[in-house]
Amino acid sequence: MKIRTRFNLALLLVFVPGFVIGIWITHALLVNNAKTDVLANAGLMMETATSVRSYTVDHVSPRLRPLMQAEFLAETVPAFAAVETFARLQKSYPDYSYREATLNPTNLRNRATDWENYHIIRPFRAGTTSGATLEQLVGERVGNDGKRFLYIARPIRITNAACLACHSTPQAAPPALIKTYGDRHGFGWQQNEVVGAQIITVPFELAIQNAQRAVWAVSAVLLGLLASLFLVLNIMLDRVVIAPIRRVSQQSEQISLGNLDIPEFSERGAEEIVQLQSAFNRMRRSIQKAMRVVQPLPARRPLQTASEDA
Ligand code: HEC
Repeated sequence: MKIRTRFNLALLLVFVPGFVIGIWITHALLVNNAKTDVLANAGLMMETATSVRSYTVDHVSPRLRPLMQAEFLAETVPAFAAVETFARLQKSYPDYSYREATLNPTNLRNRATDWENYHIIRPFRAGTTSGATLEQLVGERVGNDGKRFLYIARPIRITNAACLACHSTPQAAPPALIKTYGDRHGFGWQQNEVVGAQIITVPFELAIQNAQRAVWAVSAVLLGLLASLFLVLNIMLDRVVIAPIRRVSQQSEQISLGNLDIPEFSERGAEEIVQLQSAFNRMRRSIQKAMRVVQPLPARRPLQTASEDA
């Protein structure tokens, strides 16, 4: 096998796995970073929803309660405040959503979808019954249009007996509430029951695309770097090793054919090659001398004369 082939095979053996592993690690890191960023956004939104809820409980509900004799004011309900706030946000950011998904809701727009029930509320409820309280679920979900989303969900657990004033039975609930929402749903909730979940959904597609774009850029740079290295090493190999060796072997070929008149090596190049060339030059001179001794010129000292002398 030629030197160049061996050398290039060794290079490829290092470059190809190096490239693949490098890109794989870069991809994993970038996608993971994108996920962390997006989830940080979602976490912030979840905290915002919780703040809107507690603001409503602390400041809005106490002020509005005296006005609720004839008509029920949904503005007093923390769930309503949070859902409405995020509905406004969604006008500018349509891919972001906030849900108070509930199995048996007072307001039917909050009814949990099959997906929400199966993937989020059920695990929370199962956690509650098994005693292992699950406080947060984080996951990925693919929308109907094939876009990827991340979600953060937290259980809505009835820990405050005051909730049951409106969510236990229609008889216990304020008449104004029944007038607005009816008496068919939103009741029968139990103390400590997980009735639903707060779910924040945020788009992941754009972050993934950006991460992938960055991976392409890194691949291109790395590939360019490896290709240049490959090229430079090949040119060097050719100039420094292969070409001088080829010249030495061509000379040897000529000398073996008896052609001793070719010029000597100039003894330039890499150290080892110069050593080889000077060794070769010396060997050639020795051969020339030896030849002169072995084969004296017939005109000056003919062979017959030599035998006569003897
Ligand atoms: C004064 C009555 C009242 C009390 C007390 C009350 N809620 Fe509600 N709750 C409502 C009404 C009315 C709605 C529907 C609001 C809307 O139109 O979105 C609601 C909605 C909700 C929702 C959204 C799902 C659904 O049923 O539409 C959740 C979750 C919820 N309440 C949880 C609680 C919790 C937890 C407590 C106790 C901390 C509580 N509620 C106390 C009246 C009440």
